[in-house]
This record gives sequence, C-alpha cells and structure tokens, in this order.
Amino acid sequence: MSKITAAITAVGAYVPEYVLTNQILETMVDTNDEWITTRTGIKERRILKDEGKGTSFLAIKAAQDLINKKGIDPKDIELVIVATATPDMKAASTAAYTATQIGATNAFSFDLEAACSSFLFGMSTAAKYIESGRYKNVLLIGADKNSSFINYEDRATCIIFGDGAGAVLFEPNDENLGLQDEYLRSDGSGREFLQATYGGSSYPMTQEAFSEGKHYVFQDGKTVFKNAVFNMADVAVKILERNNLTKDDIAWLAAHQANKRIIDATANRIELDNNKVMMNIEKYGNTTSATLPLLLHDYESQLKKGDNIIFAAFGGGFTWGSIYLKWAYNS
Ligand code: UT7
Repeated sequence: MSKITAAITAVGAYVPEYVLTNQILETMVDTNDEWITTRTGIKERRILKDEGKGTSFLAIKAAQDLINKKGIDPKDIELVIVATATPDMKAASTAAYTATQIGATNAFSFDLEAACSSFLFGMSTAAKYIESGRYKNVLLIGADKNSSFINYEDRATCIIFGDGAGAVLFEPNDENLGLQDEYLRSDGSGREFLQATYGGSSYPMTQEAFSEGKHYVFQDGKTVFKNAVFNMADVAVKILERNNLTKDDIAWLAAHQANKRIIDATANRIELDNNKVMMNIEKYGNTTSATLPLLLHDYESQLKKGDNIIFAAFGGGFTWGSIYLKWAYNS
C-alpha cells in the first residue's frame, strides 16, 4: 500500500480594499518612500478599517474564495484551522466562528498561534491529520488583522505590517505529492525582542498601561532582523541537505514576507535565482500568518504539478522553520 501524503489542492485569498501607501505613511510618521522601499521592499499594505470586523472577517472571505474556486461543499470540510496572531477576541475561538460562517458545520476547528510562523506550523499540523488517514479535507487559513495592535505613531512597526488572509485545502494524495519534510524550531529567549506585552495573562490590561500604549506591538527590529536572516537561511539549507536537493531541484522559494532583505539573504544562501523567489511584499507588507498563502495565491497560475517548493518563515517567540512540499496540480 502506498503512503498517504498531504497535498495542497486549492488556494483562496482576501485582502481589504483600503491601501495604505508609503506616501500616506509619510504624512503620519517621520519616514519616506525611499527609506521604506530600500530597507524593506514594501510599497503599500492593506488595512481593514471597518469597525467591529476582526480577523475572522478576513479568514471567512479567504475561505469563501477557496470554496467557490474549488466548488466544494463546505459540509465536507472536517477540520478548520485558523493560524493567527490576532484572534478576534480572548476566549472565543476565531476558528469556530469562521467555520460556522462558511457553512463548515460538520467540522471541528481551532486557532493556532506561533506569530509569523503560524501558517508554516499550521501546514505541519494540517498535514498530520491527513497523513494519519483520519481526515480527508482539512482547511488551513492564515489570517491577521495586524492593524488592530499597531501604533501608527511608531515608525519602527507601522511601515511593515498589513492585514490579509489566505486559505489552502489539504487532501490525501497517493502520488507522493504534497508535504515531504519539515524542520521546525522555536526559542523563547527571543520573546523580549518582539511582543505586544499587555492584554495577555502575564500583564492584563490596566488603564495606565493602555494610556502608555503598552498593548501595541514592540519590536527591536535590528535583533529580529539578524536572527531572521541567520535562522531562515539555516533551516532552508538543512531541508535541502536532508533531502539531497540542489538549487536546480527547487522550483520556488516561498519565504515569509517580513523584509525583502531577509528573503534575498535566504535565497542567496541557497544560491537560488531571483526568478524562483516568490515575492509580493511590495503590495501587502508583512501580513504575519497570511504571507505564505498569499504568495501561493498570487503565484498559483505559474505553479506546476510536481514543482518542489521550499517554504521558510521566522517570527516572534522566536519561532521559525522550513517545509519542503511538492505542488500537486496545474491550474
Ligand atoms: O515578521 C517577523 C518579524 N519581523 C521582522 O522580521 C522584521 C525584522 N526587522 C526589520 O525588518 C528591520 O530591522 C526594520 C525594517 C524594522 C528596520 O530596518 P533597519 O535597517 O534595521 O533600521 P534601523 O532600525 O537599524 O535604523 C537605521 C536608521 C536609523 O537612523 P540612524 O540612527 O542610522 O540615523 C533609524 O533612526 O534608519 C532610521 N529609521 C527610519 N528612517 C525612516 C528607522 N525606521 C525608519 C523609518 N523611516 N521608518
């Protein structure tokens, strides 16, 4: 009997309409288009402005896009995972609400949080449910409304982050396509360098903390940058070596879109040509859990059955890793 592998068989996406350009940011903080473009590669990002709409709004839209494209009955979905660092609210699961709203009434669901590595770790999790033979339709959504905890007076963070969502469907495959290998890591000693300190269980919100803006995301950009460059490149090399792959075997690098210079450094380390590096950071900025599925959505028409894709991500925690996946369809 051939081994069951977990393949991605459909992709959907959604980004909000409002476009926050570098030119608009120039009017909000002391920055300029030239600095943002050369230091990060970002030109614009999308922001969900509507009051009362949270991450689930983005997740539902991305899932509906996938359901319509693939023409599946949402009642056939057995598990919905929402990878997110910005859940709708405390206690109530964003995934449960999302699953019900898209009509996945036969599914169980849960949120998965690993900062910017949430979607990558979600790929690993979704694949295990398929590989075990237990489930046949697992919907993984990466969604974040980063604007909900960004201080738009802090130029160290507001120029980077945006809102968005992407979704993929995992199904069993008997041609050995889909997820092949993974190398996932974390190191909690890095948490002081990227965090939103207040509003969680360690430091519940107080009036004083709120007025001092301690609920916003703080980042020591330089330290995060250094760790991201080293670790993302390191895991990409490890995945290649472990699977006896050379740069010529790789069709695509799908790397977390946090900073173009981090992506370029990873690509250089594995000596990959530019035309094999998926890139859309200029349009969306860093959408945390949505960067990888948004890449798959934007590049879907260029992907071919059997293509070897190396995924890589790095994020708060610290969390990071790499996944080697064989693409399963021509669109
Ligand atoms: O998603 C996973 C987690 N996040 C990341 O992976 C992000 C990692 N970090 C980064 O991408 C970069 O560190 C940033 C884009 C955040 C910052 O870039 P940098 O090259 O590390 O800049 P820096 O903080 O070292 O600052 C360099 C200079 C400073 O001026 P001086 O001291 O050299 O005169 C800053 O004051 O650039 C200045 N600067 C800015 N200038 C215009 C810092 N931020 C800005 C800004 N606009 N937004």
